[in-house]
Amino acid sequence: MTDAGSRVTIHMAASLDGFIARRDGSVDWLETADEYADGATMDPERVEAFLKTIDCYVMGSRTYETALGFEAKGLGWPYGDKPTFVLTHRALPRTRDTVEFCSGDLAHFVNGRLRHAFRTIWFVGGGQLSAECLRLELVDEIRYSILPIVIGDGIPFFEKLDRDFALHLSEVNAYRSGMVELRYEVRR
Ligand SMILES: NC(=O)c1ccc[n+]([C@@H]2O[C@H](COP(=O)([O-])OP(=O)(O)OC[C@H]3O[C@@H](n4cnc5c(N)ncnc54)[C@H](OP(=O)(O)O)[C@@H]3O)[C@@H](O)[C@H]2O)c1
Repeated sequence: MTDAGSRVTIHMAASLDGFIARRDGSVDWLETADEYADGATMDPERVEAFLKTIDCYVMGSRTYETALGFEAKGLGWPYGDKPTFVLTHRALPRTRDTVEFCSGDLAHFVNGRLRHAFRTIWFVGGGQLSAECLRLELVDEIRYSILPIVIGDGIPFFEKLDRDFALHLSEVNAYRSGMVELRYEVRR
């Protein structure tokens, strides 16, 4: 596969005020109880078919630790059997063969390794890794799912960016649950 065929997406869900977790890392607020009558419903078969199009996942160590915590509570592993790369400088528990720990030059890792091996590359958080990817201009697309809630404080979608990044809005979808999904191309 050529690099030109690969695509790097950041996808996360955030409160209306732009936070992906509370300061203590909790994401209890992701369960909202809104209903938007004109919104689309999530058809589980379509969701499953869509998830099959993702070739690998990449995440920061804190997001991985959150996922491990959910799994330990019996809530499952959301990344299926897809290769899952965890950025970390620490020795973390590895609970499945699909998980690989990585560190070093992030640009080299994405452009020199992932883009050669995978077509659809999903960065699934958190805020620190998302900001690093954007800053290094590694991202083609951002999918931002806004939930119908304001939480006042927390970890931002992009942690500590020091310049602006122009985007092009490419798709908007509103769902029955009150979630709005915004899809942006990152302008070069
Ligand atoms: N709402 C959502 O959709 C959503 C999605 C994802 C996550 N979250 C939440 O967001 C929180 C985590 O976000 P976060 O911003 O605090 O952390 P994060 O981005 O998940 O992880 C940051 C950590 O990743 C490692 N890292 C980042 N870049 C690296 C690099 N280039 N090389 C090696 N290691 C690197 C470092 O770990 P080490 O210290 O181990 O070296 C760093 O401390 C959690 O509470 C999670 O639940 C929410």
